[in-house]
Amino acid sequence: MKIFKSKHKLKKAIQNQKSLSFVPTMGGLHKGHVSLIKRSKKFKEKVIVSIFVNPTQFNQKKDFINYPRNLKKDLSILKKLKVDFLFIPNKRDMFTFRPKKSVYLNNFSKKLCGSFRKGHFEGVLNIVNRFLEIIKPKRIFLGAKDFQQLTLIKKHIIKKKINTKIVSCKTIREKNGIACSSRNDLLSQDEIKKASKIYKILSNEKKKPSINLKAVKEKIIKIGVKNIDYLEIYNVNTLKKSNKLNKNTKLFIAYHLKDVRIIDNI
Ligand code: PAF
Repeated sequence: MKIFKSKHKLKKAIQNQKSLSFVPTMGGLHKGHVSLIKRSKKFKEKVIVSIFVNPTQFNQKKDFINYPRNLKKDLSILKKLKVDFLFIPNKRDMFTFRPKKSVYLNNFSKKLCGSFRKGHFEGVLNIVNRFLEIIKPKRIFLGAKDFQQLTLIKKHIIKKKINTKIVSCKTIREKNGIACSSRNDLLSQDEIKKASKIYKILSNEKKKPSINLKAVKEKIIKIGVKNIDYLEIYNVNTLKKSNKLNKNTKLFIAYHLKDVRIIDNI
C-alpha cells in the first residue's frame, strides 16, 4: 500500500491510472468501511482510500474534536485488505485550490439531517467534489446508512456531469442490529444496549401494516434517549415525505444518546 500525504505526489502517482475505485473515509474504520473496500476490490481496479476528518462538515467544534481517530488501527486494516493507495491529505492541500466544478446542492439537503446540522451537507459536497477532481475515480463507494449523503453526492455527480459512477453499498450492522458507525466507539455498553433496542423497535414497526410515528417516538424516549431530532418516513425514489411504509419508503431516524448523535434508516 502506497501512502500519500501530498496531493501533488498522489496526482503524479495515479496520473496513468484510468480506472480507480475510490473509498472516501474519515478514518475510525469499522466493518462498514471494510465492506465498502471489499466491494471495491471486486471491480479488479486499483483501490484508493482517503482518510480525512473534514472540518467543514462538522457543525459543532466539539463533535469535530471528539470524532474517533485511530490511524494505527486504520493502517493495519487497510494493509490487510491490500488497498493500493492511501491518501491522507492535510487541510491546506484540500482547501487551497479552486475546484473546476462548483458544488450542486439539491433541495433534499434541507430535509432530515440538513435541518439539524447547518452547513453539514455543503461541507460534505465541498470535500467530495475536491476529492473527485484530484482523484478522478471511475467509481466511488458509499454506504447506504448515510442515505442523504449518498443521494446528494449522486445528484451532484449527475448535475455536474462528473465521470464517476456511484456504487451504493448496503448498511452493515452489528449482531445486535445497530448500524456500524465510527461514532459507535463513543458509546458506553449501556448506550449500545439502548441503540440496539431502538433498532429492534423500528424494524418491528416496519413489519406492521400501519405506523403511528408519535407513539413510536414516545417508546424510544422511554428507553432513555436524550432527544430525537427526527423520526420520519421518506420515499427513497421521489425523496418526498410520506406517512405510509411500503416497499418504496423507509424510516429515517436521528437521535442522541448522551452526546453521541446516531442516524439510521430502516
Ligand atoms: O461518510 C463520510 O465518512 C464522509 O462524509 C465523507 C464521504 C468521507 C466526506 O468527508
